[in-house]
Formats: sequence, C-alpha cells, structure tokens
Amino acid sequence: MPERGDSAAYDRWLADLERRHLAELTFPEVSRALRALSATYVERRQKIAEGAALAGAGKRAAFAMFYGPLHFLLVAHIAGELPGAAGEHSTLVDLGCGTGAAGAAWALACARARGGRAPRIVGVDRHPWAVSEAAQTYRTLGLSAAVHRGDAATAALPSTRCAILAAFTVNELDERARAALLGRLLGRGSRGDRILIVEPIAGSIARWWDRWRAAFESAGGRSDQWRFRPELPAIVAKLDRAAGLDHREITGRSLWLAPRATAASRAAVLSASS
Ligand SMILES: C[S@@+](CC[C@H](N)C(=O)[O-])C[C@H]1O[C@@H](n2cnc3c(N)ncnc32)[C@H](O)[C@@H]1O
Repeated sequence: MPERGDSAAYDRWLADLERRHLAELTFPEVSRALRALSATYVERRQKIAEGAALAGAGKRAAFAMFYGPLHFLLVAHIAGELPGAAGEHSTLVDLGCGTGAAGAAWALACARARGGRAPRIVGVDRHPWAVSEAAQTYRTLGLSAAVHRGDAATAALPSTRCAILAAFTVNELDERARAALLGRLLGRGSRGDRILIVEPIAGSIARWWDRWRAAFESAGGRSDQWRFRPELPAIVAKLDRAAGLDHREITGRSLWLAPRATAASRAAVLSASS
C-alpha cells in the first residue's frame, strides 16, 4: 500500500503504540482524553502554547495513537503526490517532530522512491515526552535518526543540504518565532533545501497562512490542499468513532519549496522529450 510504505514496519509501529499506551490506560480513558485533546486543538489555542495538548498520560496516548497515525497518512500522501518531494534527501529535519510520525512518513516515502534508502532524520521538539516518543517511533520503523530537545524556530540546522519539515507545528509558534522561522526557511530554500509545511485546513486558526503562502509562492514554491480517504488503522477508526469525531476523510494543506530546475537540467529535459 503506497501510502503506508513498508507495511510490516507500519503494522509493527501501530501494534507497539497500542501495546505501550494501553498498558496503563483503558480504551474509554484514552477516548475521553482524545475528546479533550481535540477540543484543545479546535477551541483553546492559547492552552496549546502553555503545553496543555501533551499534559497527562491520557492526552499523550491519544496524541500518539490517534493523531500520530493520521499525520503519518497525510504526510505519506503528500510526499507521494508532490513532484520531487520523495527525492534524494540525505538528511530530513523534522521541526516540532512530536511523536515522529510525520517525518517518518516522509522518510519512508523517500526510501520507497529510492529503492530502500531513507534519509537520516533529525527530530527537534521542545517537549521531553515527544522527544522520547519520536525516538521510539524511528526505532520501531527502522529509521536512522537523532532527536533533540530544542526550539523549532531557532534549532541549529545541518550545514549541508537537507529536507526540512514542519507538520502541525508552525501554528503552535508565537508571532515572533513564526516570523523568524519563515525568514530562516526561505533563506534555506534559496540555498537548495527542500521545505515542506503541513497544517490543517482551518482558516480561522491560521491567519498567518496567507502570508506564508504568498512568501513561498513568490520564492517559486507552491501551495496545495489535500483531501483523500485512506484505509484507517483499526485503532484510529475505533477511537474516531468513540470520541464522536470523523476522520474517514483526511484533509490538510501544504507549502512546498524546492530548487527550480537549473538551465542545464531544463535543457536536458527538453532534449529528452524532443
Ligand atoms: C501538533 S504537534 C505535531 C507533531 C508532529 N509534527 C506531527 O505532525 O505529528 C506539534 C508539536 O510541536 C511541538 N512544538 C510546539 N512549539 C514548539 C517549539 N517552539 N519548538 C519545538 N517544538 C515545538 C510540540 O511540542 C508538539 O510536539
């Protein structure tokens, strides 16, 4: 199944999530926590900045078992559809990596496109629980990775070319950090890095989006909206129903910036097609 990459590793990851997070909590406890978590994302943006989203074992379990796989499926889909996204990246930096799901999905999409070799992932998150959960995700999925506690807006980036991801993270930054990050990302994009930003489709909670979109487009990038019906993992579908949510269709939007084809490679493409 192309959206999922290595299907044995994907199944192993999901089984590991269930085993670990349902060891101490019952299913009804996790589904109650999921309701609270989704309300936090929709209604209480300020609380997220204060760390409410990942406060408590129930919300962490819900985040890892529910939003992690959903973000994995969305980023796998985007990486499979955006021309050039699943390319030759040696390092992939995941800013605000959370449980590692989004970066892992992109890395596995690259591996699939390149016949097995995934980029090395560098995960960065400010939350200590996320950092250890991401390390577990990368391990279970067989990906080579380093994870650091740090700030997404100011974290050191590799000196060599890399792919940079920020999935469901930019919206959690304050205005100043967000503006600083935009400047950094555009600078890195102009030096040849590939940049992928992924966020939910929700205009009211992302007024900054239009500014970022205009900046990416004027730098030669593109913006897209996504809507598709994946095969949801059984635990995700069960939690979805139990918490009164509906993610049978997954949606999202992305910004993508990659170096334009050079004059030489454009000429090669033209002569190959003539
Ligand atoms: C909604 S989660 C998304 C996680 C992951 N990217 C995904 O798609 O599943 C947002 C993550 O960003 C992290 N985060 C928020 N602000 C941050 C900052 N300033 N620096 C580093 N991480 C940050 C949070 O701790 C959380 O793990």
